[in-house]
Amino acid sequence: MSHDPIKFAYWVPNVSGGLVVSKIEQRTSWDIDYNRKLARIAERSGFEYALTQIRFTAGYGAEFQHESVAFSHALLGATEQLKVIAAILPGPWNPVLAAKQLATIDQLTNGRIAVNIVSGWFKGEFTAIGEHWLEHDERYRRSEEFIRALKGIWTQDNFTFNGDFYRLRDYSLKPKPLQQPHPEIFQGGSSRAARDMAARVSDWYFTNGNTPEGIKAQVDDIRAKAAANGHSVKIGVNAFVIARDTEEEARAVLEEIIAKADPEAVNAFGDAARQAGKASPEGEGNWAKSSFADLVQYNDGFKTNLIGTPQQVAERIVALKAVGVDLVLSGFLHFQEEVAYFGEKVLPLVRELEARKLEEAA
Ligand SMILES: Cc1cc2nc3c(=O)[nH]c(=O)nc-3n(C[C@H](O)[C@H](O)[C@H](O)COP(=O)(O)O)c2cc1C
Repeated sequence: MSHDPIKFAYWVPNVSGGLVVSKIEQRTSWDIDYNRKLARIAERSGFEYALTQIRFTAGYGAEFQHESVAFSHALLGATEQLKVIAAILPGPWNPVLAAKQLATIDQLTNGRIAVNIVSGWFKGEFTAIGEHWLEHDERYRRSEEFIRALKGIWTQDNFTFNGDFYRLRDYSLKPKPLQQPHPEIFQGGSSRAARDMAARVSDWYFTNGNTPEGIKAQVDDIRAKAAANGHSVKIGVNAFVIARDTEEEARAVLEEIIAKADPEAVNAFGDAARQAGKASPEGEGNWAKSSFADLVQYNDGFKTNLIGTPQQVAERIVALKAVGVDLVLSGFLHFQEEVAYFGEKVLPLVRELEARKLEEAA
């Protein structure tokens, strides 16, 4: 098991409606004041990263959506240590603009920006904004070129790139980002193409929620491929956390979320998402096998089962670490209160269990 403590990130609620497609009460807001306060609570509570989302249209609920790069910068301005991962969608963005924007933010924030390259799953969104919709694996071919171009621009002078999607000629970005060699590059997606891209170019692979066995299969696959490429990649897993003083309370919250799910929104999202998952040639993409209940949390976050008492949740986090997970990306019902509760009740138990495991292994 890794000697490094497992890291924690939270989903920034920069879109309306929270992280579950349910009519249950959610004391979470997408506005900037709420989010600034949340970011400060999170950094005090032991969260190292926050992940913003990029959406141009409402797909399922999420009627209002703040743009990710601008929002990330605002959160960095409100915090001192937190790193913020800005979601970027190739298509609307090109790598030159992204490299320039993020290098500036990195300079302005003492080196705390990171990027999540998302490849797109929602055809209706692309159609609405006049972006050409590529087939599944072509989207990843473009994302990989995007990442290679981004790294080249960030690390080299007189950079030339001859891709199928992007071309640069003798380009020198000045100033470069503060972080060396460059800000961390995350990616989201679980399909064969996503994994192969991670094993070649990404610093981090984010995947949807899953069981430790399901995660282990992905970790082993990606790490073996990365090693063959002389590359190393860290793994982040999505989880919707419901930690309560008793297991009954936590389970009751999950049941209520699902009972109050908005079937129309969930099914509409499920159709688009499953189609996007199945659109990968091998049919293993995110959501390809998701049930109605899974889809109520839009990245299969219940499947990770961080639902129970602080002790149960901490044990399951350490079990994820044991199969090779480096980071837990967490969503919550009532973000501010629950991020604080997590920091106070769950995180110290995780650190205790990690220390005990290392002693046992020594
Ligand atoms: C942690 C995580 C965050 C994501 N964030 C976004 C996002 O902000 N915007 C977006 O359009 N897609 C987002 N995605 C979707 C992915 O980029 C990708 O399109 C989707 O997971 C389907 O990929 P697959 O077919 O390779 O499994 C995210 C995925 C994950 C796992």
